[in-house]
Amino acid sequence: MKYSRIIGTGGYLPEKILTNDDLAKIVETSNEWIVERTGIKRRHIRSPDETTTSMAGIAANRAIEAAGIDRSQIQMIVFATCTPDLFFPNAASTLQRLLGITATACPAFDVNIACSGFIYALSIADQYIRSGMVEHALVVGADSLTRLIDWSDRSTCILFSDGAGAVVLKADDKPGIYSTHLHTDGSYGDLLHVKGDVYNAPSCQYINMQGNAVFKVAVTKLGEVVEETLRFNNIDKEAIDWLIPHQANLRIIEATTRRLGFPMEKVILTVEDQGNTSAASVPLALDIGVRDGRIKPGNLLLFEAFSAGFAWGSALVRY
Ligand code: ACO
Repeated sequence: MKYSRIIGTGGYLPEKILTNDDLAKIVETSNEWIVERTGIKRRHIRSPDETTTSMAGIAANRAIEAAGIDRSQIQMIVFATCTPDLFFPNAASTLQRLLGITATACPAFDVNIACSGFIYALSIADQYIRSGMVEHALVVGADSLTRLIDWSDRSTCILFSDGAGAVVLKADDKPGIYSTHLHTDGSYGDLLHVKGDVYNAPSCQYINMQGNAVFKVAVTKLGEVVEETLRFNNIDKEAIDWLIPHQANLRIIEATTRRLGFPMEKVILTVEDQGNTSAASVPLALDIGVRDGRIKPGNLLLFEAFSAGFAWGSALVRY
């Protein structure tokens, strides 16, 4: 039986930082309100000459370097983003060119599932490796959600930010990724959307969100998908070394762990310093935990994310 294993991680955050006090100069809000309701203190904003793909390129190069492979060994690129540089070509093929991967037998494609995108991309690459079609895959999550923000809307401009994360997967006889669990319920589509479309391009459209309703569904569905993952693998929550959640709001993370009876000390948190980087948030948190030494080889990790759609998912991973 073949499994896919994460053999390298990488991340990138733009240099420019926007603090809560900076935001309080733009909209009627305060550092206290934002910290209390979201846990966010600061976030990174890409510069005008950066793009989703350029950020992804840096994260991917770091992941490839950490994996210790030659980039020519990569046989597939799955790029999770809802903010590609162009309508087409897709972000993945732009990234392929940026990385100097010239093999045409390296299919490169995007998956657009907003903040859950990385879990979906990981699941897709995992299936290709398990089936024996691919030996090495690059999985990327990167977004520039600040490009979709109405800077006069205080309920959204405080949350979202920019960044990129990446992992290299390799086929192995031992897990690796034990399982992934994906869900979608399109009936919630109106609660969180950006109305930009190809007919009205290039008109500027912004994130529209009913935050409170999103919050409630997110807590329920994330709790359910974590329980589903534990049940499927026949393990107790005590077996998990690190929970790596999507970093949308500290209160969502706390509510989910409270429901599960899972200790916050075993959660990798980046939301305070990064805000919501969308598809980048899980791989960025993973990369931080790996590089600061908290996540060790052999640790059992549980990834989970929730996003517009609504879509949500999880992955159980032996690092
Ligand atoms: N500063 C001060 N007051 C604010 C702000 C702000 N930045 N934003 C909203 N308020 C006000 C509201 O106007 C409201 O005032 P009112 O009572 O006079 O009407 C009051 O605060 C309470 O508003 P709520 O929306 O009920 O506040 P809530 O506690 O729900 O917090 C928040 C809002 C932070 C948006 C929260 O609902 C949330 O984080 N939801 C989840 C959103 C999320 O995670 N989205 C991403 C999903 S992933 C993806 O795919 C993109």
